[in-house]
Amino acid sequence: MTLKKITIAIDGHSSTGKSTMAKALAKRIGYAYVDTGAMYRAVTLFALRNKLIRRGKVDEPALKEHLKRGDIAITFRPTKEGKSVTVLNGKNVERYIRSMRVSNVVSIIAAIGFVRKAMVKQQQAMGKDKGLVMDGRDIGTVVFPDAEMKVFATASAEVRAQRRFDELRAKGDTTTTFDEVLANVTERDRIDSTRKESPLRQADDAVVLDNSHMTLEEQDEWLYNLYLARAKN
Ligand code: DC
Repeated sequence: MTLKKITIAIDGHSSTGKSTMAKALAKRIGYAYVDTGAMYRAVTLFALRNKLIRRGKVDEPALKEHLKRGDIAITFRPTKEGKSVTVLNGKNVERYIRSMRVSNVVSIIAAIGFVRKAMVKQQQAMGKDKGLVMDGRDIGTVVFPDAEMKVFATASAEVRAQRRFDELRAKGDTTTTFDEVLANVTERDRIDSTRKESPLRQADDAVVLDNSHMTLEEQDEWLYNLYLARAKN
C-alpha cells in the first residue's frame, strides 16, 4: 500500500487533548507537528509582558505595530527528549504560556483579526509542503480548508476541566481550584465559539472525535486508522 503525504487538521474545544493526540500521531507517522494554540499564547505572553493588556482591554494599535515590526517571532524548537518547545524571540517560553495568567486572557488576543491574519499566514507557510499535523480551532476551516484529514475533537466540559486541573497540579499549582478551571474552560468555549473572527466551528467534512470515555490507546488507534484511510492512494 502506498501512502501519499497529506495535511492533517485537528480542531476542537479546549482541553480535549488535541495536542497530545496530534503529537502522538505525528510521531507515529513521521510528520511535523504544529501547536497553533501555543502561537496565540505566545502573542498573549508578549502582550502581558509589554503591558499591552489592561483590565481585559488590549492596546490594539501598539500590538499591531509590534507584529508589523516583527517584534514577535514565534518558532518551535525540538528538545533532547524529543519534545518541542515554544520559543518567543529566542527564549523558551513553554512554561509561561501554559500559566493561568496567559490562559485567562488568551481568548481576547485570539479574537483580534489582525493577530489571526498574521498567525494564519505563518501557519500556511509551515504547511505548504504537507506532511504535517496541525492543531487549533480554525485549521480545517480557515488555515487548510483543503486538508485531506480533518478531526473535530470534543469532550464534556467537566472531563476537560478535570484534565486541565490535573495538569496544573502536576506542574505544582496548588492554589487554582477545580471550579476556577471549569469556569475558565466554559468561558473559553463561549468566547471561542461566539467571536466574530473565525469562530470555532466544525468543518463540514470533519470527523467528530468525542474522547470523554476513550483511553489514549483507543484514541491513537482511531486517529491512525483514519490517517491510513485518507492517505491511501
Ligand atoms: O489550544 P489552546 O488552549 O492552547 O488555545 C489557546 C487559545 O487560542 C484558545 O482560547 C483558542 C485560541 N486558538 C485559536 O483561536 N485558534 C487556533 N488555531 C488555536 C488556538
